[in-house]
Amino acid sequence: MLCNNKNKQLKLIFLGPPGAGKGTQTDIVSERYSIPAISIGAILRDAIKNQTELGKTAAKYVESGELVPDEIIIDIINERLSKDDCKNGFILDGYPRTKTQAAALDESGTEISLVINIFVDDNDIIRRMRGRRVCSSCGATYHIKYNPTSDNKTCSRCGGALIRREDDEPSVVESRLKVYHEQTEPLIKYYEEKGILRTVIGQEKLEDTTALTLNVIENYLKG
Ligand code: AP5
Repeated sequence: MLCNNKNKQLKLIFLGPPGAGKGTQTDIVSERYSIPAISIGAILRDAIKNQTELGKTAAKYVESGELVPDEIIIDIINERLSKDDCKNGFILDGYPRTKTQAAALDESGTEISLVINIFVDDNDIIRRMRGRRVCSSCGATYHIKYNPTSDNKTCSRCGGALIRREDDEPSVVESRLKVYHEQTEPLIKYYEEKGILRTVIGQEKLEDTTALTLNVIENYLKG
């Protein structure tokens, strides 16, 4: 475990289009700095799989690539952030995604230290999404070329079967990209104006994106 330097807390947001690598970097940073990762997409997929009330409501939005209504998402995040394990730092993967969500985060009094915006071109996203595989059991994410398992069928973490996410169908990816550009991309300016945004250009190799991401975090912690 690496401790946060000089008592600086890492309260981090990963911003970026679908498939940019937010979830992948979130897992790496969470383990390295021992801070909880809060992935709203994973929370929703879990609820859909378990057919909870939230899952039943969220399914139609997630499956079509639309955003789940703000009021539902804001409540889930506020509740999660109020837990003790978030006091000394956390990572928000995929939240906020609208100006209303960003304003709600500000209003909740949560101080964000750093927003890392992972930039990947739309054409690269579409190509990448074809090769993503996720574990049907533990939710771990792989890629058949960039982050493969030994046979690209079995999860290296838990042995579960690898599947494609339903929302990785090309037509759904297109609508997720459209939603991203319309509703989430404006947050880049929002956080730029607060002086806490850093952009990392997503690289062809996963480990190169990780090196750039960790560099941004280390610079923040040293600063
Ligand atoms: P969510 O699960 O958050 O989906 P997303 O933002 O569209 O992001 P992804 O999980 O698809 O991609 P990622 O950026 O995490 O990339 P990954 O690391 O997997 O949300 C799903 C849905 O939930 C939304 O569509 C919406 O309906 C709802 N939702 C979520 N948040 C919401 C909110 N705040 N408000 C309302 N609704 C919300 O990487 C992608 C692939 O590329 C992987 O295969 C990976 O192995 C590979 N890869 C990663 N990095 C690299 C690299 N550098 N080089 C090559 N390959 C790489």
